[in-house]
Amino acid sequence: MRSIIKAQRGVRDILPKDSYKWRFIEDVARNLSASFGFKEIRTPVFESTELFERSVGDETDVVQKEMYTFLDKGKRSITLRPEGTAGVVRSVIENSVFGGALPLKLFYINSFYRYEKPQAGRYREFYQFGAEVFGPESPQADAEVILFISSFFDELGIKNLALKINSIGCTLCRERYSVALKGYFSTAGDLCEHCAQRLHRNPFRILDCKDEKCRNASRDAPVITEFLCKECVDHFDLLKSYLDSLKISYIVDPRAVRGLDYYTKTVFEFVDTFSRGQNSVCGGGRYDNLTEQMGGPKLPALGFAVGMERLLLMMEQQNLEIQKPQDCDIYIANAAEEFKLTTMKLSFILRVFGKINCEYDISDKNLRSQVRHADKLGARFLLVIGQKEKDSGFGIVKNMKTKETLKVPLFPDDDFLKAARNIILAHLAQ
Ligand code: HAM
Repeated sequence: MRSIIKAQRGVRDILPKDSYKWRFIEDVARNLSASFGFKEIRTPVFESTELFERSVGDETDVVQKEMYTFLDKGKRSITLRPEGTAGVVRSVIENSVFGGALPLKLFYINSFYRYEKPQAGRYREFYQFGAEVFGPESPQADAEVILFISSFFDELGIKNLALKINSIGCTLCRERYSVALKGYFSTAGDLCEHCAQRLHRNPFRILDCKDEKCRNASRDAPVITEFLCKECVDHFDLLKSYLDSLKISYIVDPRAVRGLDYYTKTVFEFVDTFSRGQNSVCGGGRYDNLTEQMGGPKLPALGFAVGMERLLLMMEQQNLEIQKPQDCDIYIANAAEEFKLTTMKLSFILRVFGKINCEYDISDKNLRSQVRHADKLGARFLLVIGQKEKDSGFGIVKNMKTKETLKVPLFPDDDFLKAARNIILAHLAQ
């Protein structure tokens, strides 16, 4: 016997028993995005490796350890997107999308790929609902983005989330901070091999290294807030005052640095206060230099991404039930072979004109099995077509729960059916 091919480690199939939950969350995300004026963008699953090296940063763990990178048949180095911001920035520059009205507000719901050690809430293929705003420099935009995410969580009924914010400054602040960090880490004790190498190139990355040695060494490291210039302090203070006015509670965490290199000024994370594992449900911040760094115009920008798997996990843990949609409104069973075509035609009309979820048998089941199947599908109504119905032109629609019945006229004539088909075909051809 041939062996069964299994899915790769760290990836999951989203089966029908769960896919409706995803659909529900995605609908909430899409509707809210529309209310906040965000338009959808879809970018490719794979991009040139250089895009992520230059944006996410070639010293980051994501680029150094977690990317799915390969040479394609044309010997180009290709990477499966590990995050969404880089691709959106590339697309905005390449398509000159910023030429229109600013701010430009985009959202996406996509899959991403990171070669991480799989565990609950951490996968090698995962999904994010993310958004990016291009144009505004004002901290009001930062508050607006945070309000957008909070509204999303509120609409889903999620509790126990803490918002952590920080400012990691502009290029000037970071240069001064970098000098201080290099000085501190050169005497702070052992670092992992990787961090020892990147100490002089990018000391910020030591602050979010997961290695025990680096964590210990980072404990008393100076914090960025001590090195912020006046403009960055003012920007951060204004953001806090907006959040206060909006009654959005937050914790200022001067040690929050984020694991991607492109951030400037505001960074934030929503963390699940009950989870001991992967507790970051959403991460984001400003990246005012990235578009210019990637060859585009200077365009301040900011954004966020919510991890969909972690969100669903939280909803499950908080017993937030998502109502299962009605899969089958009515099941039309045939009492014998000769009524098969009638059930087919009737279903067609109900489905297309009535927008009714309608099922009938396409696998030669006898009447008993069809009724059993209707039950399994959770059909709300059942209609059996047999000789009596054919002769009388009436059928009995039965409510499967209450057992109530309703007599309805059946069988539109064939001309009507033909006309219906023609209307649909004409409609499709437009
Ligand atoms: P990130 O913090 O790397 O940020 O990821 C955002 C969220 O994606 C995390 O908070 C987490 O919920 C989820 N996530 C990350 N890695 C995994 C994984 N391996 N398995 C499951 N979920 C995961 C970004 O990706 C930035 N692009 C966000 C952003 C947009 N910043 C500005 N604009």
